[in-house]
Amino acid sequence: MDPTQNPPSPDSWWKNGIVYQIYPRSFQDSDGDGIGDLRGIRQRLDYLVALGVDAVWISPIYPSPMADFGYDISDYCAFDARFGTLADFDELVRGAHALGLKVILDFVPNHTSDQHPWFMQSRSSRQDPKRDWYIWRDPAPDGGPPNNCLSNFGGPAWTLDAATGQYYLHSFLREQPDLDWRNPDVRAAVYEALRFWLRRGVDGFRIDVLYHLVKDALFRDNPANPAFVPGGDPSHSLLPLYTADLPEVQDIVREMRAVVDAFSNAQGERVLIGELYLPLARLMAYYGLDSNGVLQGVQLPFNFQLIGAQWQADVIHRLVHDYEAALPPGAAPNWVLGNHDKPRIASRVGPLRARLAAMLLLTLRGTPTLYYGDEIGMTDVSIPPDEVQDPFEKNEPGKGLGRDPQRTPMQWSTGAHAGFSQGKPWLRLADDWATHNVDLQQADAASMLALYRRLIALRRAEPALHAGAWEPVDAGADVVAYARSFAQRRLVVLLNFAEAPRDVDGSVVGAKADVLASTRPERAGLQGGLLTLQALEGVVLACANE
Ligand code: GLC
Ligand code: MG
Repeated sequence: MDPTQNPPSPDSWWKNGIVYQIYPRSFQDSDGDGIGDLRGIRQRLDYLVALGVDAVWISPIYPSPMADFGYDISDYCAFDARFGTLADFDELVRGAHALGLKVILDFVPNHTSDQHPWFMQSRSSRQDPKRDWYIWRDPAPDGGPPNNCLSNFGGPAWTLDAATGQYYLHSFLREQPDLDWRNPDVRAAVYEALRFWLRRGVDGFRIDVLYHLVKDALFRDNPANPAFVPGGDPSHSLLPLYTADLPEVQDIVREMRAVVDAFSNAQGERVLIGELYLPLARLMAYYGLDSNGVLQGVQLPFNFQLIGAQWQADVIHRLVHDYEAALPPGAAPNWVLGNHDKPRIASRVGPLRARLAAMLLLTLRGTPTLYYGDEIGMTDVSIPPDEVQDPFEKNEPGKGLGRDPQRTPMQWSTGAHAGFSQGKPWLRLADDWATHNVDLQQADAASMLALYRRLIALRRAEPALHAGAWEPVDAGADVVAYARSFAQRRLVVLLNFAEAPRDVDGSVVGAKADVLASTRPERAGLQGGLLTLQALEGVVLACANE
């Protein structure tokens, strides 16, 4: 019996599928205001289906003063008019579902905007019933901040509210006050907001800075980071011992999971994806393995290791191996190459290696998340100082921390503004948009887009790739090699990280093997028993059954 013929299980979409991240401001504008919107996304659903992804995660589209471009939310249960209306969203979800695409919303529970009515009430007086929805503390004896905590965007994490004489905590901008997750009323209110969207049919949430939700009850000072290099990201000068990954976060994770599980049904499970920048062992805790062997945490704790890793065969090999070995029983792995906060993969490693990275992402075991534009090899765009939008860059200029470069408008065509908008885009386009865009790459079998499509189609067609086992293979230095297998089918992936050809012994793949994909469009096939990988070439081989 062919196992692929079984009806899909409710969890198969997020376990076996592919997630595509849309940064909505920059994906597709429908009304000429230069800002991408919901109708724009709807117009591009066919593109996403043709690409072959299974779900879209949309960065925040809620009402927001846009101090942090939507990550400062002033109403959890509505949309910002710049992005569209609830009706537009309902239509988007209907359209996506009709095409078999799931819709994942970004959700930001750690903080709201300072313009959220909850915070406006909270800051109105010390006696206000919402005062303790946020984290207020008296000044230190010298009048300064209550402790040494730093904002992730530079400067102290405390701002004094002169009117009420207390400081409030903000892990990010002062326009993003942190909610107090120790307060049960806060929990109840935020869970109700999750239910609002679940009832509207969303298939899951990406939870922003999940590990930051709870802070030390005693508000102790964070210790100095001995590894800090002066000139780097100033928030890294302290270790976040008392501000991140506290044990109490796990209770909240379990509660959130119960909220979404209540909406799972035969059509599909609702999924939680956690944004977690944590060491491997701590990341694993967010799967929430309990003493009965049940996973009660987020289904997909984001695995960002490929983002920070040195691009060397031995490093990548070890990293994959260690991650596989660390997973709790039954846990679903996942992989990410980039997102709206990190430099793009094509800029980090260069265009040829980015093709290798695509093959790695799409042939590893676990749910891949693609960042919009990476499938056409978009690169970071240098933004002149007077055009900077990102508050991080404004706070810490010139340190290379700004995130505008990886948020530029999607390059669709050679038309006006790259087909992104009829009007001037909110952020400048890459200089190369006229030669690097979806339309041109669609017509070019050697393009990055063609490679992504081929690899995604292969991943969808091969249970070995989307559901199979993973096992390392030794193919010599400089070559990351592994096998993926399902039932009798065995595929071998060979990725040559060297800038020179490498010979791989035929015994690695067996006497006969077919090349199913190569990152080098010119590859014809295998020659004899010996396989020569070209410089920076990756291949997927199907081993013949003995
Ligand atoms: C997350 C988001 C980032 C945002 C921050 C504050 O890290 O990915 O874009 O600025 O949280 O919400
Ligand atoms: Mg618009």
